[in-house]
Amino acid sequence: MSIELEQKAKQILLDNDKGGYTVPTHGLYPFQWNWDSAFVALGFAEFDRARAWQEVATLFAAQWEDGHTPHIVFHQENSTYFPGPDVWQTAERTEGRKPSSGITQPPVSASIVRTLWESRADDTELEQLAAIYPKLVAWHDWFAEFRDPLDNGLVMVTHPWETGRDNSVEWDIPMSLVDTSKVGEYTRKDLSMVDQSMRPTSAQYDRYLAMVMFGRQCNWDHKIIANEGPFRVLDVGMSMMLLRANRDLLVLAEALGKTEDVERIKARIAKSAAGINFLWNDDIGAYCSYDLTSKQHLAIVTNTSFLAWYADVGSMEQRQSLIDNMQRILGKVQYSVPSCDPEHAEFNPILYWRGPIWLVVNYMIGRGLLEADLSELGERVFNDTMAIAEAGEFYESFSPVDGTGAGGPHFSWSAAIWLHLNRQKQQAA
Ligand code: DGY
Repeated sequence: MSIELEQKAKQILLDNDKGGYTVPTHGLYPFQWNWDSAFVALGFAEFDRARAWQEVATLFAAQWEDGHTPHIVFHQENSTYFPGPDVWQTAERTEGRKPSSGITQPPVSASIVRTLWESRADDTELEQLAAIYPKLVAWHDWFAEFRDPLDNGLVMVTHPWETGRDNSVEWDIPMSLVDTSKVGEYTRKDLSMVDQSMRPTSAQYDRYLAMVMFGRQCNWDHKIIANEGPFRVLDVGMSMMLLRANRDLLVLAEALGKTEDVERIKARIAKSAAGINFLWNDDIGAYCSYDLTSKQHLAIVTNTSFLAWYADVGSMEQRQSLIDNMQRILGKVQYSVPSCDPEHAEFNPILYWRGPIWLVVNYMIGRGLLEADLSELGERVFNDTMAIAEAGEFYESFSPVDGTGAGGPHFSWSAAIWLHLNRQKQQAA
């Protein structure tokens, strides 16, 4: 059974491999996506380590001069996706590189690179690590320069697509404030491949595009977008992931003897670890995102609230409160961890980031729980992750209620996470 599944998962990565980069799934997402690629590298590492390093290298080859690392790299033309490079219009900023989008995505690469590096059998991969390291530093510097408006180490996002959690209930309020009057006519392509019941609404799409238009109008000047953009939200997910990524980058700096970077990275870690308290909301007993435009906590418990252990933050009381929330939520669903609180009025088990389980977030939550010695909860998350991937055929996401696969099929990161966890399970046995 496990051998057959292993073959199936590998085949998904091989089928989605476009030669140096992997599409998340054919049709729906026909280019290279930033955080998808990082997780995909974990999957390739199980059978082709050189290919794993290459996945990260092709992503960072598209890094802009200012350190911005785009959420999509448009390696070749493809008419099945909207909005493509003709809409983004980043040509002036991407000269000499592959065309790309003007926004970023969750900074998980340093963490994945650390995992990759530490799982090597010998020292032959030093060259790959040394080549990627300065690009990771440049990206983290970019976050510090352009996306830390309160100077407290949290991450401000300027588009829901940056968070990866496109239509999370968290964004409903800040999205409602975005003006769509100049968007005009356009045709979505995603709905010809996935049912509308599993995709963002057209009102949400209008807003996504309005934000793209804003970036385009200021020629992707990241200072202007950060200061004046229509969507300015401190994202709990990316703040947790960047904090963790800086902890992992520190380990890489030390491995490479980059003493000149060590103090700087340590200072960033300390700043974010203290700053994260700004996102704590006592009413819900969890960390949550914050809208800088309407100046309010977006008080919703999501799966990214449970990245606290992964980021290694929180007092004893805060962590207990998160455990209470998690146990309450897990008592309401069959599989962990839903992307929205199932007791929230907007919870929908198959609607993208408004309920479904995402294996990559589960991977980070489970890992954090196990590192914090919360083995019962951590194992529950990992066991559910594997079971749901197997039953649901490596879909994009899954219903926490009954495990039904949702979104696109034959999905790279779902296969990659399964391959990675499967190996860990075999090693533990
Ligand atoms: C999409 O097109 O749905 C993507 O999530 C945007 O990155």
